[in-house]
Amino acid sequence: MTDDHSRTPAQLSDLTLAEKAALVSGASFWQTAAIPDKGVPAAVLSDGPHGVRYQDEASDHLGFNHSIPATAYPTAAATACSWDRGLLRAIGTQLGHEARAIGVDVLLGPGMNIKRSPLCGRNFEYFSEDPLLTGELAVAWVDGIQRTGVGASVKHFAVNNQETDRMRISAEVDERTLREIYLRAFERVVTRSQPATVMASYNVLNGVKVAENEWLLDTVLRGEWGYEGVVVSDWGAVSDPVASLRAGLDLEMPTTAGASAAAIVRAVESGEIDEGVLDRSVERVLRMGATHTSTADKPAFDADAGHQLAFTAAVESAVLLSNDGTLPLSPDAGGTVAVIGEFARSPRYQGAGSSHVVPHRLDTALDAARDRLAGRREVTFAPGFTFEGADQALADEAVEVARAAGDVILFLGLPDADESEGFDREHLSLPEAQLELFHRLAEVTDRLVVVLSHGAVVEVATWEDRAAATLDMWLGGQASGSAAVALLFGDANPSGKLAETVPLRLEDTPAYLNWPGSDHVVHYGERIYVGYRSYDRTRRDVAHAFGHGLSYTTFEYGELEARADDDGLHLAVSVTNTGARDGAEVVQFYAEAPGDDRPTRELIGFEKVRLRAGAREIVRATVPWGDVSFFSTREHRWVRAGGRYRIWAAASSRDLRSSTEIDIEGTEAPVILDLESSFGEWLADPRGSQALQELFAETGQAPSVDESMMPLIGPIPLGKMLGMMMAGSAVVDPARLEELVARVNG
Ligand code: BGC
Repeated sequence: MTDDHSRTPAQLSDLTLAEKAALVSGASFWQTAAIPDKGVPAAVLSDGPHGVRYQDEASDHLGFNHSIPATAYPTAAATACSWDRGLLRAIGTQLGHEARAIGVDVLLGPGMNIKRSPLCGRNFEYFSEDPLLTGELAVAWVDGIQRTGVGASVKHFAVNNQETDRMRISAEVDERTLREIYLRAFERVVTRSQPATVMASYNVLNGVKVAENEWLLDTVLRGEWGYEGVVVSDWGAVSDPVASLRAGLDLEMPTTAGASAAAIVRAVESGEIDEGVLDRSVERVLRMGATHTSTADKPAFDADAGHQLAFTAAVESAVLLSNDGTLPLSPDAGGTVAVIGEFARSPRYQGAGSSHVVPHRLDTALDAARDRLAGRREVTFAPGFTFEGADQALADEAVEVARAAGDVILFLGLPDADESEGFDREHLSLPEAQLELFHRLAEVTDRLVVVLSHGAVVEVATWEDRAAATLDMWLGGQASGSAAVALLFGDANPSGKLAETVPLRLEDTPAYLNWPGSDHVVHYGERIYVGYRSYDRTRRDVAHAFGHGLSYTTFEYGELEARADDDGLHLAVSVTNTGARDGAEVVQFYAEAPGDDRPTRELIGFEKVRLRAGAREIVRATVPWGDVSFFSTREHRWVRAGGRYRIWAAASSRDLRSSTEIDIEGTEAPVILDLESSFGEWLADPRGSQALQELFAETGQAPSVDESMMPLIGPIPLGKMLGMMMAGSAVVDPARLEELVARVNG
């Protein structure tokens, strides 16, 4: 590590127009321009986000060419299930050390788009369907890496939730949905951690290309959130460098061999763009170089420490979906352990595309099981299937191996070809050959344990009840195999919780009818009802709820206490480990807020606690007011609904353990009542109904309306309703009505 993170930035005034234009577009595939005689260093950028993908030979942005070996940590889809800020910070820090050792200044991650649909081919690179969980984990990761001096690049900003047509699709999203769901995690990481760069995505947002979207890149990101760093384009996202610069995009990547710089010089010279706009971006790029580039010797990186952390992360992230008590397996029970499935010897542990790294080391579950059980139990193996599909002979052999065994561990998952950056899936099923094998094995053993490897949600409801237990490793990084074995044999206790809902079937997913769009347009018709926000509101059964995950021990929750003050909501609940093993629990806090058009429940906080068997602890969380607010379309700002809230301490979004109610003062401005407001709205508002009564008393005239007419008359705007029912009467005198409106609104 170097301390050389804050050299004096080169002076803008020393630079020529051509030099400035060169600084805002890449000098190569991975580097920014250097101007050595003026003290401007080149910054080296590299993927990200689960390992350092540094290409020392041919470069590409899709992971085809070689990169030098690096630690492959579990993917974001996995680490999100740890719900562990400390773990994410540790991974960020180790990635920073490794990046420094290799000579990388900015690592392109974390990926933090919201999982709108489980079909998105890049979901393995993203954390969650929930913006609070996504935001908290991204903050931890960014803080971790940036404390080593290496910069982060939060991506893909924004609303890049599908791979289909990713360079042209226009995501059509209403502002409330944008703010509450798709921008919220970015807002959190920007305001809390000031990532060195924010990566502008390929797609179009509400008709305007993100890379040219001044509202997003300037008004919101800089103006409202106070972002000070560099907005960098996704690789190749810029079509018109001058338009992008004007919109607030500071750095185009990768190089265009001088074409973009030349276009910018011409635009400044012709007066098409003000030089001040260029200067603004150049200053940001200079500042990034001064803060994040290193001239010191490359410090050594301890690959063993990286592997150890990858192992810990895989253990903490695995989710035990179901267990009839078969797990943990005993290393001493006697009888053979059958390990079945090609994944056991050829693990799937990372996703395909730009995040693909060449790992330092790779543990296989088969080797780990043999090591673990050496001299204790015999381990047999059968691949059972190939990644290309069914193989009758392999399946027959696997059935015989299983029949002869005491315990059977079956490794299933999605092969690389089934999910990747660049395309979306079309269904949620595991490959047919694997499911067929599963059902054949379930015929010959009732001790069938399934271990899953996949980046995005797979359907489990059609088969899971025939398994004795299902352990989900997601794409668990280079130590995923050994981590699975540690969990299966009880050397570690599972503590991961789902960061996304596992639906019963694809047709239940909230975006189903609006996916993936057509004619380059996709409508976010489900609005804010993404993930559990939709399943809970529509009361749909799911295979596994958001936040679900079992342990080998049990936890009991005490009474939840809630208190409010200026800082927010203060929550406290006691949790006791009531089982016989040490374990960790993720205590989740949800709020049911008053008001219409709100999700049934929303995650407002979480804490992961480690408890020895029998131990009890008070788990506390402070929820800042912002996290219980919603974006008011009427007021066009974040507000807090006033009224009675129900707060839950829960073990998942559907395993609600303890609750309390609390009255909270709102921040919504009173509704303005005017002649366009409905008769019902006037009557529902104490000021309105009082004023109307006064008007009717004063004029001695009132419309004859009884209760039974209200469903029909209530929704009519007051002006229209009085005009129709009381034409010619003193009640509808314009001056009187004007005075009424003024009086009622104070
Ligand atoms: C991806 C980015 C990546 C970049 C550079 C793009 O195709 O969308 O996530 O950082 O390539 O490889």
